[in-house]
Amino acid sequence: MILSGKAKLAGVLGWPVGHSRSPRLHGYWLERLGIDGAYVPLPVRPEDFASVFRALPKMGFAGANVTVPHKEQALILADEVEPLAKRIGAVNTLVVREDGSILGLNTDAFGFMQNLLETHPASLGYLNRPAVVLGAGGAARAVIAALADAGVPEIRLVNRSLERAEKLAAEIGGPIRVQQWDRLDLAGAGLLVNTTSLGMTGQPPLDLDLSALPQDAVVNDIVYAPRVTDLLLRAQARGNPVVDGLGMLLWQAVRGFSLWFGQQPEVTADLRDFVLKS
Ligand code: ATR
Repeated sequence: MILSGKAKLAGVLGWPVGHSRSPRLHGYWLERLGIDGAYVPLPVRPEDFASVFRALPKMGFAGANVTVPHKEQALILADEVEPLAKRIGAVNTLVVREDGSILGLNTDAFGFMQNLLETHPASLGYLNRPAVVLGAGGAARAVIAALADAGVPEIRLVNRSLERAEKLAAEIGGPIRVQQWDRLDLAGAGLLVNTTSLGMTGQPPLDLDLSALPQDAVVNDIVYAPRVTDLLLRAQARGNPVVDGLGMLLWQAVRGFSLWFGQQPEVTADLRDFVLKS
């Protein structure tokens, strides 16, 4: 892609950032849509984050994504933060406005929900039954906010650290019931979501007995490396509909891209394959 002097700029701020798939993902859309723009990795140490953040408008950036470990700092530094990002407690997308001020968004909840609904429409009714969420980290906060906002009647939450789960429940709000791992109630659930890092390449396996889970419950693992986790394989083998985690990554990027570059990108099967190839 040849850039002009008017090219629009965006990127991803993280430390480290070398593992990020976002430059590949946005680069694909920029090229396909023929946009005069660039999306670059921006490796920024935590101690430099505030100064780089404030320099973005001065350097002509349209915005940026924010990843580990800067998501909480971005929430503090942004001139305005949308209510959902405040509730989740993290900002993953920055938009530079015309007056040079920075708006902070969190697009993970949207990404999670779009990925889920794109694969299994709400008309199947699984969101009208209790949902079970494993984990209470940053990703869980976005997932639970999305489920609460979608009107899921009950959210059963389990986490290694009970205290963290209780804090999440108090902060995010909604019909959340914190449960213990050894007393996890899968009966009657319409949805099971893994937001922990268990089952990810290089991490311990997720050891969960699925026998009490209804066979029509949707099972979603937000882990996408491997693309099909052991949880999804076991769920598939007993007939449960499944959703992998790659789509959440792709869909969360859609909103930032359209705000920075002014065009709505598409999430396609070709894009999924492309993003996974390194
Ligand atoms: P993310 O932003 O991806 O959600 P995170 O905030 O570090 O990452 O959260 C990781 C989640 O995986 C947490 O729910 C964590 O449990 P704790 O809150 O108890 O730390 C969970 N997790 C990670 N390793 C785990 C393990 N070995 N056993 C059980 N849970 C684990």
